[in-house]
Amino acid sequence: MDTTQILNEDIDSWETAMFLYNSALKEVGTKLDILNDEFVHIHKYNPIEYIKKRIKTPESIVKKLKRDNYEVTIENMVKYIKDIAGIRIVCSFTSDIYRLAEMIGKQNDLTVVSIKDYIKHPKASGYKSFHMQVSLPIFLSDRVVDTMVEIQIRTIAMDFWASLEHKLRYKKDIPADQAQQLQEELLACAAQSAQLDNRMQEIRNQLVSRADKGNQS
Ligand code: GTP
Ligand code: MG
Repeated sequence: MDTTQILNEDIDSWETAMFLYNSALKEVGTKLDILNDEFVHIHKYNPIEYIKKRIKTPESIVKKLKRDNYEVTIENMVKYIKDIAGIRIVCSFTSDIYRLAEMIGKQNDLTVVSIKDYIKHPKASGYKSFHMQVSLPIFLSDRVVDTMVEIQIRTIAMDFWASLEHKLRYKKDIPADQAQQLQEELLACAAQSAQLDNRMQEIRNQLVSRADKGNQS
């Protein structure tokens, strides 16, 4: 993959763009830390298991621009690729996902650009996750630049499935005769992992309602 196409075009604007995406990731990361800490402070409960952040590599940026038939330019990259800065929040329970998404949406200095709920509407692959594209202002010394970040929120079970499926499917050339069987097998695994999530959620609901009753008496 010839990434020099981007790099040679305008090294300054490439570096500025990457600086902005990195800054936006830091900002969102800090916001999430604060939300999590506040949650622990009030509810004595920690909804976030772990967070992963990443900046898309130049190779995948070029690949995606080409896939979508855009000329490889920094302008197109900024305009059309919404997941250059990506943050993945892995939660304990499905209910935590919606609670966190709501808390993120309420942050005044952050705009929710789009939402895709692949938990209520899983992908044909079996993929489940809650995606939010958000934009937030990055304050530089002489200007303010709105910068996009893609937030993916999932449970540990959803993350487990997505990580292994990605390894099994995305990276390898699978012969056509095996692809269908693999697809079915992965779908069955997705159903099993969703079942586990539902059972854990059920246990949690029972414990919470028992604790609530205890507090009332
Ligand atoms: P892209 O243009 O490829 O980003 O697709 P999109 O714009 O339709 O976005 P989408 O909401 O489908 O999210 C894309 C991201 O979600 C990917 O970069 C993956 O991280 C994740 N994702 C989406 N579908 C799958 C899937 O079937 N399996 C796995 N493992 N991850 C997926
Ligand atoms: Mg995307």
